[in-house]
Amino acid sequence: MLYKLINSLYFLWLLLAIPALGALLQFSHNPTTSFDLIHPTGEFSVRLMIIAMMISPLRQLFGRRGWTDWLLKRRRAIGVAAFGYALLHLVFYLIDMAVWEQVVKDAMIFSIWTGYIAFAIFTVMALTSNDSAMRMLRANWKRLQRFVYAAAILTALHWVYVDGEWRGALIHFIPLAALEIARVAHIFTKRSRKTAQVGTVI
Ligand code: HEM
Repeated sequence: MLYKLINSLYFLWLLLAIPALGALLQFSHNPTTSFDLIHPTGEFSVRLMIIAMMISPLRQLFGRRGWTDWLLKRRRAIGVAAFGYALLHLVFYLIDMAVWEQVVKDAMIFSIWTGYIAFAIFTVMALTSNDSAMRMLRANWKRLQRFVYAAAILTALHWVYVDGEWRGALIHFIPLAALEIARVAHIFTKRSRKTAQVGTVI
């Protein structure tokens, strides 16, 4: 019973919501902390996006197993939570800026507009991450999901340029990049093995 509860999607949603509730609580106690909350919400969003993105290459590399199926069932929740944290990040940023003229001025800077475009992609993906959108878009749904790679690159650039250094972003993106490289290598070896097999049959 307890195991079933802990293993449920509801429990995962609760876990994913805890840092957000903490941030909102802190803000409600002291609204002047909005600037301090930009940083953790941005990092949570990136981490969740990376975890959600790692699930596909893991499944391709390790095949359908209990744990890869388990991860796949949770991918949508993790992706939507990544969007939720990006939204909080934006809200805290806007509250901190307070002056619209400054927000518009900022939006012209490379380090900030990369964040806005990544966020726009996140929004489209979150809005279409339900069964009815999947049915409606059919093959286009998968094409649309590939935009997450553009969002990941834009987020990495946003992070590096806003921070003025690349180590934080690099450490976070290395596991995903390594898995993607392994996935491509795996596809190529599989293809060349198939071609070699066809060659020996002929
Ligand atoms: C919607 C438009 C966005 C705006 C206006 C924005 C704005 C900002 C600003 C002003 C900072 C610097 C905060 C500081 O100096 O502590 C920042 C940092 C950051 N943002 Fe964004 N951001 C946006 C979108 C995103 C998105 C979509 C993500 C993640 C997917 C993200 C992830 C981050 C990260 C990881 C940092 C660096 C945190 C650190 O210093 O370690 N941002 N953002």
